[in-house]
Amino acid sequence: MIAIGSDHGGFELKEEIKKYLLQEGHEVKDFGVDSPVSVDYPDIAHPVCMSVINGECEKGILVCGTGIGISIAANKIHGIRAALCGDCFSARMAKEHNNANVIALGGRVVGPSLAIEIVNAWLKAEFQGGRHQTRVDKIHSLENK
Ligand code: RB5
Repeated sequence: MIAIGSDHGGFELKEEIKKYLLQEGHEVKDFGVDSPVSVDYPDIAHPVCMSVINGECEKGILVCGTGIGISIAANKIHGIRAALCGDCFSARMAKEHNNANVIALGGRVVGPSLAIEIVNAWLKAEFQGGRHQTRVDKIHSLENK
Protein backbone atom coordinates (compact mmCIF):
# COMPACT_ATOMS: atom_id res chain seq x y z
CA MET A 1 0.00 0.00 0.00
CA ILE A 2 1.32 3.43 -0.94
CA ALA A 3 0.22 6.44 1.11
CA ILE A 4 -0.24 9.69 -0.76
CA GLY A 5 -1.16 13.20 0.33
CA SER A 6 -0.86 16.82 -0.63
CA ASP A 7 -1.78 20.32 0.35
CA HIS A 8 -3.61 22.63 -2.09
CA GLY A 9 -0.34 23.47 -3.88
CA GLY A 10 0.20 19.82 -4.70
CA PHE A 11 -3.39 18.73 -5.19
CA GLU A 12 -3.41 18.48 -8.99
CA LEU A 13 -0.11 16.62 -9.16
CA LYS A 14 -1.15 14.30 -6.33
CA GLU A 15 -4.25 13.38 -8.30
CA GLU A 16 -2.14 12.66 -11.43
CA ILE A 17 0.28 10.47 -9.48
CA LYS A 18 -2.55 8.62 -7.77
CA LYS A 19 -4.28 7.97 -11.10
CA TYR A 20 -1.04 6.60 -12.53
CA LEU A 21 -0.34 4.36 -9.55
CA LEU A 22 -3.86 2.90 -9.61
CA GLN A 23 -3.56 2.26 -13.36
CA GLU A 24 -0.33 0.39 -12.67
CA GLY A 25 -2.08 -1.83 -10.13
CA HIS A 26 -0.70 -0.32 -6.93
CA GLU A 27 -2.87 -0.03 -3.85
CA VAL A 28 -3.07 3.60 -2.79
CA LYS A 29 -4.38 5.21 0.39
CA ASP A 30 -5.16 8.86 -0.21
CA PHE A 31 -4.89 11.12 2.86
CA GLY A 32 -6.19 14.16 0.97
CA VAL A 33 -6.69 16.88 0.20
CA ASP A 34 -9.72 16.08 -1.92
CA SER A 35 -10.00 19.52 -3.49
CA PRO A 36 -7.67 22.50 -3.88
CA VAL A 37 -8.86 23.87 -0.53
CA SER A 38 -6.10 25.64 1.41
CA VAL A 39 -4.60 23.48 4.16
CA ASP A 40 -1.42 23.50 6.20
CA TYR A 41 0.99 20.91 4.79
CA PRO A 42 2.12 19.52 8.21
CA ASP A 43 -1.48 18.40 8.73
CA ILE A 44 -1.15 16.15 5.67
CA ALA A 45 2.47 15.08 6.19
CA HIS A 46 1.64 13.76 9.66
CA PRO A 47 -1.03 11.12 8.82
CA VAL A 48 0.79 10.01 5.66
CA CYS A 49 4.02 9.48 7.60
CA MET A 50 2.30 7.83 10.55
CA SER A 51 0.76 5.28 8.17
CA VAL A 52 4.31 4.43 7.05
CA ILE A 53 5.64 4.27 10.61
CA ASN A 54 2.81 2.04 11.86
CA GLY A 55 3.16 -0.29 8.88
CA GLU A 56 -0.24 0.35 7.33
CA CYS A 57 1.55 1.64 4.23
CA GLU A 58 4.96 0.60 2.89
CA LYS A 59 5.94 4.06 1.66
CA GLY A 60 4.56 7.53 1.17
CA ILE A 61 4.32 10.21 -1.48
CA LEU A 62 3.86 13.84 -0.44
CA VAL A 63 3.22 16.85 -2.65
CA CYS A 64 3.04 20.54 -1.82
CA GLY A 65 3.76 23.60 -3.96
CA THR A 66 7.52 23.20 -3.83
CA GLY A 67 7.79 19.94 -1.90
CA ILE A 68 9.94 21.80 0.62
CA GLY A 69 7.52 22.43 3.46
CA ILE A 70 5.93 19.02 3.36
CA SER A 71 9.32 17.27 3.28
CA ILE A 72 10.60 19.33 6.20
CA ALA A 73 7.48 18.41 8.17
CA ALA A 74 7.78 14.73 7.25
CA ASN A 75 11.40 14.57 8.38
CA LYS A 76 10.40 15.70 11.88
CA ILE A 77 8.68 12.36 12.39
CA HIS A 78 11.01 9.75 13.86
CA GLY A 79 11.68 6.95 11.41
CA ILE A 80 10.79 8.96 8.34
CA ARG A 81 13.39 9.57 5.65
CA ALA A 82 11.68 11.93 3.22
CA ALA A 83 13.52 12.94 0.04
CA LEU A 84 12.48 15.97 -1.96
CA CYS A 85 13.21 15.01 -5.56
CA GLY A 86 13.03 16.98 -8.79
CA ASP A 87 14.95 14.53 -10.97
CA CYS A 88 15.12 10.79 -11.56
CA PHE A 89 18.75 10.33 -10.50
CA SER A 90 18.07 11.81 -7.07
CA ALA A 91 14.95 9.69 -6.73
CA ARG A 92 16.91 6.50 -7.46
CA MET A 93 19.70 7.51 -5.08
CA ALA A 94 17.15 8.43 -2.40
CA LYS A 95 16.22 4.76 -2.28
CA GLU A 96 19.58 3.12 -3.06
CA HIS A 97 21.63 5.18 -0.61
CA ASN A 98 19.18 6.77 1.82
CA ASN A 99 16.40 4.16 1.88
CA ALA A 100 13.91 7.01 1.67
CA ASN A 101 10.53 5.75 2.82
CA VAL A 102 8.81 8.94 1.67
CA ILE A 103 9.32 10.96 -1.50
CA ALA A 104 8.23 14.59 -1.79
CA LEU A 105 7.55 16.51 -4.98
CA GLY A 106 6.69 20.08 -5.85
CA GLY A 107 3.42 20.43 -7.70
CA ARG A 108 4.43 23.91 -8.83
CA VAL A 109 7.90 22.73 -9.82
CA VAL A 110 7.63 19.51 -11.83
CA GLY A 111 5.06 18.58 -14.45
CA PRO A 112 3.07 15.36 -14.28
CA SER A 113 5.18 13.39 -16.80
CA LEU A 114 8.45 14.09 -15.00
CA ALA A 115 6.82 13.52 -11.63
CA ILE A 116 5.68 10.06 -12.69
CA GLU A 117 9.18 9.21 -13.93
CA ILE A 118 10.59 10.40 -10.60
CA VAL A 119 8.12 8.30 -8.64
CA ASN A 120 8.89 5.28 -10.82
CA ALA A 121 12.64 5.69 -10.37
CA TRP A 122 12.13 5.67 -6.61
CA LEU A 123 9.67 2.77 -6.60
CA LYS A 124 11.88 0.54 -8.75
CA ALA A 125 15.14 1.22 -6.92
CA GLU A 126 16.40 -1.00 -4.11
CA PHE A 127 18.28 0.01 -0.99
CA GLN A 128 21.92 -1.06 -1.25
CA GLY A 129 22.53 -1.53 2.48
CA GLY A 130 26.12 -1.98 3.68
CA ARG A 131 27.84 1.32 4.37
CA HIS A 132 24.57 3.08 3.52
CA GLN A 133 22.80 1.25 6.32
CA THR A 134 25.44 2.55 8.75
CA ARG A 135 24.73 6.10 7.57
CA VAL A 136 20.97 5.65 7.77
CA ASP A 137 21.40 4.32 11.31
CA LYS A 138 23.41 7.44 12.16
CA ILE A 139 20.63 9.64 10.79
CA HIS A 140 18.19 8.01 13.17
CA SER A 141 20.57 8.23 16.11
CA LEU A 142 20.26 12.00 15.68
CA GLU A 143 16.58 11.71 16.63
CA ASN A 144 17.64 11.04 20.24
CA LYS A 145 20.16 13.87 20.57
C1 RB5 B 1 1.35 26.81 -0.11
O1 RB5 B 1 1.05 28.06 -0.65
C2 RB5 B 1 2.84 26.55 -0.20
O2 RB5 B 1 3.52 27.35 0.69
C3 RB5 B 1 3.13 25.08 0.05
O3 RB5 B 1 2.42 24.31 -0.86
C4 RB5 B 1 4.57 24.66 -0.09
O4 RB5 B 1 5.12 25.09 -1.28
C5 RB5 B 1 5.42 24.97 1.08
O5 RB5 B 1 6.60 24.58 1.15
